[in-house]
Parts: sequence; structure tokens; C-alpha cells
Amino acid sequence: MSKKILVVIASTRPGRLGPAVADWFLQVTAPTTTELDLTIEVADLAKVGLPFLDEPEHPSTGIYHYEHTREWSRRVQAADGLVFVTGEYNFAMPATLKNAFDYLSREWAWKPCLFIGYGNTSAGSRGVQMARGVATSLRMLSIGGDIYLRIADDLPDGTVISKDSRTKYARSALGQLARAAEVMRPLRSEDEQIVPATSADVAELVVLQRACWVDEAVANQTLDLPALHESAVEVEAALHEWSVWVVRSAGRLVGSVRGKRGGEDWLIGRLMVAPDQRHRGLGQRLLAHAEAHAPGDATAIQLFTGARSTGPQALYQRAGYQLTAEGSPPGAVGLRKSIPAGRARQNSELNSTAPVFPSR
Ligand SMILES: Cc1cc2nc3c(=O)[nH]c(=O)nc-3n(C[C@H](O)[C@H](O)[C@H](O)COP(=O)(O)O)c2cc1C
Repeated sequence: MSKKILVVIASTRPGRLGPAVADWFLQVTAPTTTELDLTIEVADLAKVGLPFLDEPEHPSTGIYHYEHTREWSRRVQAADGLVFVTGEYNFAMPATLKNAFDYLSREWAWKPCLFIGYGNTSAGSRGVQMARGVATSLRMLSIGGDIYLRIADDLPDGTVISKDSRTKYARSALGQLARAAEVMRPLRSEDEQIVPATSADVAELVVLQRACWVDEAVANQTLDLPALHESAVEVEAALHEWSVWVVRSAGRLVGSVRGKRGGEDWLIGRLMVAPDQRHRGLGQRLLAHAEAHAPGDATAIQLFTGARSTGPQALYQRAGYQLTAEGSPPGAVGLRKSIPAGRARQNSELNSTAPVFPSR
């Protein structure tokens, strides 16, 4: 499967060597890129133009107030592996690279990385060592096999001297990076964790609800759907009445579901996935997650959807639900699934990623 490699140029000062080093790497590895079906993108931090970290929230929340952060998040999130081209400033990585690291969190996670260091006597190795520690703390995997260039020997006039052995080494390093990116792919897909919603999610939940229920309004030929009208205050109030979970991708809220007890049953509602994020299993994961939180003594799970909402009905039926005529509001249908005896557990025992019983 095609993989995206992001080459990050760390230095930003006028007259820097960073772009020349990156150009050399891109040029000599071009044949490998085609062979391995890699797409290479360059993120030159001088052009990315991040200010010193100015986000109020911790990056692990994925809540980004500024467009420059969202853009950086999208670019890093899209990468399967990273190449950091970095010089050494005062025995350390340039502050611009550390700043670019600090902006994000889960976008870096479970991605392999390779360093190309350059400098004077140390050939940039002390800067790389420092950057490697930071990369590791962000759950990147430094695959080793890094490339080091001594400025006086390897790029005396500002361009990297061509050498067969170095070209071979660079191609092999990129090949290893691509292999690691492939092997680590399943870890990356788990990074979109389903977590309890908080007040900070309310604004995006309101928007997501509306985006998701437009289809339902069209399919059912009605605008009389609460999800289309609820205010932020009402959505916030629901956080107290229901257990609500959300999932973010690259910082953006892309899915949600909620559950609460209703008599003997566990009621599930508001299962939603952003229209552009559908057909990759998020809806099933959210449904399984909500099912897994059914109280230990609940005997069945119940949910409702539009009478003409064929897509959602098919999803629920695939997950083992059966249509029921009981208790549906006008224009809606109920779906129900029994909880097999002895399968349900108390919430406190639950592993949030493991459904108590399979959803299909
Ligand atoms: C602020 C500063 C500090 C530097 N400190 C080191 C150093 O500790 N070790 C080293 O080998 N080179 C050091 N150098 C020299 C750099 O290796 C060299 O200038 C290199 O070209 C920097 O990368 P850049 O051109 O992409 O900015 C330093 C350069 C600058 C501007």
C-alpha cells in the first residue's frame, strides 16, 4: 500500500544548509521512492512558519485554536513516516524543530523516523541525539541507520558531494523507513481513541450532529429531528444525562455516540460519523464501544433511527439488531439486541477498546 513520508527541514535561518541537504536526499532516493510506492512531501519549517507554541490546550487533547496548528496537524497526521533533516545549534537540535514537535502529540505517534544530521566536528550527531529523545517521548520509533554529514568534508561548498556509497546508504535507509512504516500501520490506526466527551467538545458536537442529520432529514423528508435543532446548551445538558463518547482524527471531532440506562435496557443514541470519514469502520467501533458500556444487569440494547434511514438500519442489522415495533416515536423505527447472559460486565471492568460481545 502506498505510504507518505514527510521530510521535515528543521532550520529556518537565511542562508541555511537544510534545504540543500534535503534536496540531496530527495534526489538520490528518487528511484527508491518509485520502487516502494512512496509519496514524499517536504515540510520546510521556514515555510510552515509556526510561531512559538501559542496553543492554550495541551496537544494531547487535540483541541487546536489556531489554523496554523490545524494545518501542521493535518500534514503530520497524513504521514506514515518521517525524515528529520537537522543541523546542530549549540550541541542541540534547532529550537524550531523542538517547537514543531511540541505543537502536536498523537499525530506523531507510532510512526518511524530517520534523522539526517549535519554539522561541524560532530556532524550534527548531538543535535540528532537530542531530537531522538524527544521523538521517542512522542511515541515515534527512531529506526537508526541515520545519516550524518560533516560540513567541511561532505558539503564544503553548500551542496552535498555525490558519493555512491552515500547514495546506496540513503536508499537503504529510506527502504527501512518504509518497511517500518508498513509494520507499524495497525498501531497508528488504533490511535483514534474513543474517549468520554467533555464540555470542550460541545461546539464541535453541535456542528457534527447537524452535518450528520442532514442526510437523515433528506431520507425521511422531515426537518423535525432534534439532532438538527439542539442548541449547545442542550447538547451540553445531554453530557450529564448520557454517557457520551467522542473520537478525534488529527485533532478534529469526527464521531460520537452515547448510551444510558432505560429500564432493563441500555439505550444507545446519536451514533454519528462525519460524512467524509465514513466507510472506514469508525461507526462500528463507536457502536461496539457504547455496547461495551452496557451495565452488567441490562438484558438488551435498544436504539432508534429514522423509518427511512436505510444506511443506519443496515449497519445496526449487521451488528445483530432486529427491528421492533415497540415504543418508536413517529417516523422512527426501534432496533433491539439481547445481551447474552453472562457476557455483560460492570463498567468498571471494561477495557474501553474491547467490546463485551461482538457487534456482528
Ligand atoms: C546558532 C548556531 C549554533 C551552532 N552550534 C553548532 C554546534 O553546536 N555544533 C556544530 O557542529 N555546529 C554548530 N553550528 C554550525 C552549524 O552546524 C552550521 O551553521 C550549519 O550550517 C547549521 O545548519 P543550517 O545551515 O541548516 O542552519 C552552529 C550554528 C549556529 C547558527
